[in-house]
Amino acid sequence: MSTNAHVIFLKRPGAEGIPADDNFGFEKFPYPASPDTGEVLIKTLYLSVDPALRCRMNEDTGVHYVTPWEIGKEVDGFMGVGQVVQSADPGFSPGDIVESQAGWPWVAFFKRKQEEQNPLRKVDTALLGGNLTLPLTVLGLIGLTAYLGIKEKGGISAGQNQTLVVSGAAGACGSIAGQLGRLEGCARVVGICGSKEKCLFLTEELGFDAAINYKTENVKERLATLCPEGVDVYFDNVGGEISDTVISQMNKNSNVILCGQIAVYNKDLPYPPPIPENIENRIKEMSINRTRFLVLNYAEKFEETMKKLAELVLSGKIKVRETTMEGLENTGKAFVSMMNGGNIGKQLVHVADPQ
Ligand SMILES: NC(=O)c1ccc[n+]([C@@H]2O[C@H](COP(=O)([O-])OP(=O)(O)OC[C@H]3O[C@@H](n4cnc5c(N)ncnc54)[C@H](OP(=O)(O)O)[C@@H]3O)[C@@H](O)[C@H]2O)c1
Repeated sequence: MSTNAHVIFLKRPGAEGIPADDNFGFEKFPYPASPDTGEVLIKTLYLSVDPALRCRMNEDTGVHYVTPWEIGKEVDGFMGVGQVVQSADPGFSPGDIVESQAGWPWVAFFKRKQEEQNPLRKVDTALLGGNLTLPLTVLGLIGLTAYLGIKEKGGISAGQNQTLVVSGAAGACGSIAGQLGRLEGCARVVGICGSKEKCLFLTEELGFDAAINYKTENVKERLATLCPEGVDVYFDNVGGEISDTVISQMNKNSNVILCGQIAVYNKDLPYPPPIPENIENRIKEMSINRTRFLVLNYAEKFEETMKKLAELVLSGKIKVRETTMEGLENTGKAFVSMMNGGNIGKQLVHVADPQ
């Protein structure tokens, strides 16, 4: 009989600290007993690590939708894909591949009863072309965030010669958002990201018109050159100075998709964080639309959007990239790496293969 193992949360980095590998520990413990009526026993296959988990490292998460991680306890992430090992729920059979989007523990085996808030969903592997990780990338919250952000807040109309700028552009949401912006009709798509390799990925593989490496280039000057008619849509994954620079070059009545602010996740600030007064003034003067976007507020659109995303990815109109770390014991390390820009596309952890 197998043993079980999980990642535990060992220490908080501090609200202004930088997450480190030793914030996490790993321990083995006994394999679970057989499921009781209504439960399924699941083996984790893949885990997602996400920037929003950073706030769970603090004593106060500062947001209403997640609770802090407890010291010494098993870490509870957001998304995962697994396989049913044993089932005492007539809705599931051993061998079924399942996924969940709003709560998946960093553990090798676990039992769960169906929950209304965070249901386990059976994955149709044939429909995914055998790609088990798609529910953690484009066919899950990541794809929904990119698609609904662009649709609901982007104000993109084909034929309007619009320029889209995406920050965090080579990451999970950003890489999909840029491609969707192009499909929606933007004339020019420019990405901002943190390495030369990422810039090449955007321009050579995803068809972005241009990319700016914010670590080595002058973002203000490069934006002015690459977006001579100003910026009409800004998909903002990062906030901070990069976003102040982009907003300073946005046109009248343009739109910011306020998706995330990862540049300040290691600062003890409310969400969304305050922005400098001159940027606030520019937003007012230029009538720039900039309101908070939270994908969870659009749950009624998820099913229909998922169908559209499936068509786009299976027809090859959207490309998906992943960076995968091996082994459950490295999940904390994968999270830290992603927070420091170690990923291209979605950062995942491969825990086990299906039987
Ligand atoms: N609104 C919503 O409902 C919603 C849902 C999901 C995600 N989000 C947000 O969307 C954003 C992207 O999430 P994701 O899952 O797609 O993550 P991701 O972009 O795949 O990974 C995070 C990336 O952020 C970049 N980064 C880290 N520190 C930075 C800094 N100081 N300045 C600029 N860039 C920095 C790194 O890339 P570089 O190499 O380019 O630095 C890193 O690869 C996050 O802000 C997240 O919180 C929002």
